[in-house]
Amino acid sequence: MDQNALKKAVAEAAIAHVERGEILGVGTGSTANYFIDALERIRHDIPGAVASSKATAERLERIGIEVLDLNMVDYISVYVDGADEINPALEMIKGGGGALTREKVVAAVAKKFVCICDASKQVDRLGRFPLPVEVIPMARSYVARELVKLGGSPSYRDGVVTDNGNVIIDVWNLNIAVPRQMEERINNITGVVTNGLFALRPADVLLVGTAEGVKTVQAKG
Ligand code: A5P
Repeated sequence: MDQNALKKAVAEAAIAHVERGEILGVGTGSTANYFIDALERIRHDIPGAVASSKATAERLERIGIEVLDLNMVDYISVYVDGADEINPALEMIKGGGGALTREKVVAAVAKKFVCICDASKQVDRLGRFPLPVEVIPMARSYVARELVKLGGSPSYRDGVVTDNGNVIIDVWNLNIAVPRQMEERINNITGVVTNGLFALRPADVLLVGTAEGVKTVQAKG
């Protein structure tokens, strides 16, 4: 099975986690796009969805699902999204597609986070994938210098402007021994909007596509 077939299989499996009649959170990226494709057949059971990016909002509208402003929503039952890396504690690196801040906000509001990915995203330790950091444009150089002090090698994602009008710095070579600590440290740098570590709010369930089929991993504790 190629990687796209695995992504499609997990996206299909995630439909079983959607709570009918409840507001859904929908992530961003190629795996999330397969999930949106799969949602089309149950669209009449979904009163509305909160999107984690403009691209996802457009895709949801195209299949006839109403996109809601998060400020108009009391809670989100389930958030379904991909990841760039995920460890056994279901902590993740996200933001390869640049949507990390809205993804983190939607995940924060959701009662349950279902991560969908293919087996290539599973790692024992986070950090081989460069950590995306969303930064207010005027703070770019300052934040990069602070990231060097944390041991990282920052690289400006040239030409990319996020949905929030900010820029992205990808950080290589970080020693992410304790993901929660690193998430807090980087978020404390003035000028950082947020970083792509999802450790303070990890996934609750992981659906992973493998050659042997879709496996379900529940968060411990
Ligand atoms: C988007 O900003 C990301 O967080 C994606 O969720 C992540 O990059 C996974 O994307 P793919 O499903 O395309 O691998």
